[in-house]
Amino acid sequence: MAVLKVAILISGRGSNMQALIDAAHQPGYPAKIVCVISNLAEAEGLTKASKNNIPIAIVNHRDFKNRELFEHELDKRLKDFGAELICLAGFMRLLTPWFVERWRDKLINIHPSLLPSYPGLDTHKRAIAEGVKFAGCTVHFVRAEMDHGPIIIQAAVPVYPDDSEETLAARVLKIEHRIYPDTVLAIAEGRVNVYQERVFIADSVPPRESSINPI
Ligand code: GAR
Repeated sequence: MAVLKVAILISGRGSNMQALIDAAHQPGYPAKIVCVISNLAEAEGLTKASKNNIPIAIVNHRDFKNRELFEHELDKRLKDFGAELICLAGFMRLLTPWFVERWRDKLINIHPSLLPSYPGLDTHKRAIAEGVKFAGCTVHFVRAEMDHGPIIIQAAVPVYPDDSEETLAARVLKIEHRIYPDTVLAIAEGRVNVYQERVFIADSVPPRESSINPI
C-alpha cells in the first residue's frame, strides 16, 4: 500500500503532533509525516519535530498583509512538501473558505470536546460550568466554520465532580493522542468516506487470500 504523505500544522506545544509522529514510526503504519509547519516561530512543537528529524517550516501570519497571502504561502509550502493530508494539531488560525475548499476532505482537525458542543476556546471550563457528565474529543474534516465539519472519530471520558479545567484537559488529551493516529490510519487505509457531509468508515478487513479459511 502507498504511504500517505501527511503535513502537520501547529501553533504550540505539539503533543498531538508527537502522537502522530510516534504512530508513523511504527512499522507498517501507512502514513509518513513529511513536514511540520507552524505560524509561530516559538512553537514548542517545532523543537520536538526537529528532534524527530521531521522537516519544519515557519510561515508567520504576521509577515503577510492579509489572510489570503498567508494561506497562499502555506499552500505553496504544503505542495512543495508533497502533502496529501493536512492535520491541524493545535493550529490556532482560522482558515479561509479558499484554503478549506482547496483541501476539502484532505484537511482534518482535532478539538478537545464532543463537537458540536463547545467549539472554540475554553472548552473544558465551559463544560465544567454547565455540569456535563461526559467530555471528550473529536477529529473532523475541516469546513469554513470554526471547529465544524463531518465528524470522523470521537472518544468520551467521564467528568468528575472535583475536576478542574486542568484535570479534565489532561484526561481528554490522553484520548486525543489515541484517536488522532487512529483517524490518520483509517484515512491512509482508504476506509474513510464522506457522503452528504457524514463520515462512514469501512471495517478493516484482512486481505482476500487470508480471509479464505476452509473449514
Ligand atoms: C489540543 O487539546 C487540541 O485538541 C486543541 O489544542 C490543543 C493542542 O495541544 N485544539 C483546539 O482547541 C482546536 N480548536 P497540542 O499542541 O499539545 O497538541
